[in-house]
Amino acid sequence: EKGGYDHFMLKEIYEQPRSIRDCLRGRIYPQQGKVQLGGIKEYVEKLKNVDRIIIVACGTSWHAGLVGEYLIEEYARVPVEVEYASEFRYRNPIITEKDLVIAISQSGETADTMAAIELAKEKGATIFGICNVVGASIPRITHAGVYTHAGPEIGVASTKAFTAQVTVLTLIAFYIGQKRGAIKQSTLIEYLTQLDEIPTLVEQALKSNDRVKEIAEKFKNSNNCLFLGRGSSFPVALEGALKLKEISYIHAEGYPAAEMKHGPIALIDEDMPVIFIATKHSSYEKVISNIQEVKARGGQVAAIVTQGDTTVKDMADYIIEIPEVNEAFVPLVSTIPLQLLAYHIAVMRGCNVDQPRNLAKSVTVE
Ligand code: M6R
Repeated sequence: EKGGYDHFMLKEIYEQPRSIRDCLRGRIYPQQGKVQLGGIKEYVEKLKNVDRIIIVACGTSWHAGLVGEYLIEEYARVPVEVEYASEFRYRNPIITEKDLVIAISQSGETADTMAAIELAKEKGATIFGICNVVGASIPRITHAGVYTHAGPEIGVASTKAFTAQVTVLTLIAFYIGQKRGAIKQSTLIEYLTQLDEIPTLVEQALKSNDRVKEIAEKFKNSNNCLFLGRGSSFPVALEGALKLKEISYIHAEGYPAAEMKHGPIALIDEDMPVIFIATKHSSYEKVISNIQEVKARGGQVAAIVTQGDTTVKDMADYIIEIPEVNEAFVPLVSTIPLQLLAYHIAVMRGCNVDQPRNLAKSVTVE
């Protein structure tokens, strides 16, 4: 059942080219510049006029929501707020009939996420779901939604569900952007053409496995680890840190790279590995200065870089190359080596990768 892999987590990591393809199937038509989302098509008018989107989720799904915020604000130009479902529901949140609330949940059973949308529904908001398990509780109480179609995820650490959630959010961002005229048709054609290639590029990113394993060997005995990125790579850093902490029990934090100097920099010494997402995109130069700051304090740096990068290579201790992609799709590709890193470190430390201590696959109690 593990398909020849040692663990479900590894199998699910390697399934991602397929799961992303399944998620895209029948939903994008690159040559026509068309995105088709059957589950929400009755809400086109709502999407054209919506002036605020609130995303509620927990854990990894919340990280996907943060990536979604970057995507929807950039490509659809609609303001987005991303909330921990548990905080949102107890805050007497301001919600009106004008709002669109999107719940993201792999299992579709997370208690806090469910309660958050029940509350928003009572207040008259329109509720969408982005879920993986078909027919679960959350999709049953939403008005509409888009399934991720990643297939069953058994490993407690979410991997393929995360990339499928990000894929759906990308589709939603383009869909709303097109309906509102926020994205040019020619640009959309270009994006969709590359999105169609993402499964192949993810396959290439999986080839970093041996390299990642070597780095895992160096970092496996650390007590702490910092993950840094900017823009949509910030939530990817959060996700990398969560993966590492939940399965290897190494304390890890994700931060926006620029926040380092507001506190975490005090932690940096020879024993502190810092993982950067330093691909060649809008904040590349800024991330490079953050790498220099870490190196100047003796920190050990591993960086995820765009294939062929030489600048970061010269300053980091270790680099992991990923294929070049449009900025919109970096999270889908850069997440792969971080999943592998957490996996290998956990295996090397003798941890129970698929069933980490104290954790359940779906958190149905608050
Ligand atoms: O099923 P959900 O997506 O609602 O679950 C949310 C979190 O419990 C989940 O993502 C959790 O953080 C994972 N263990 C992360 O790998």
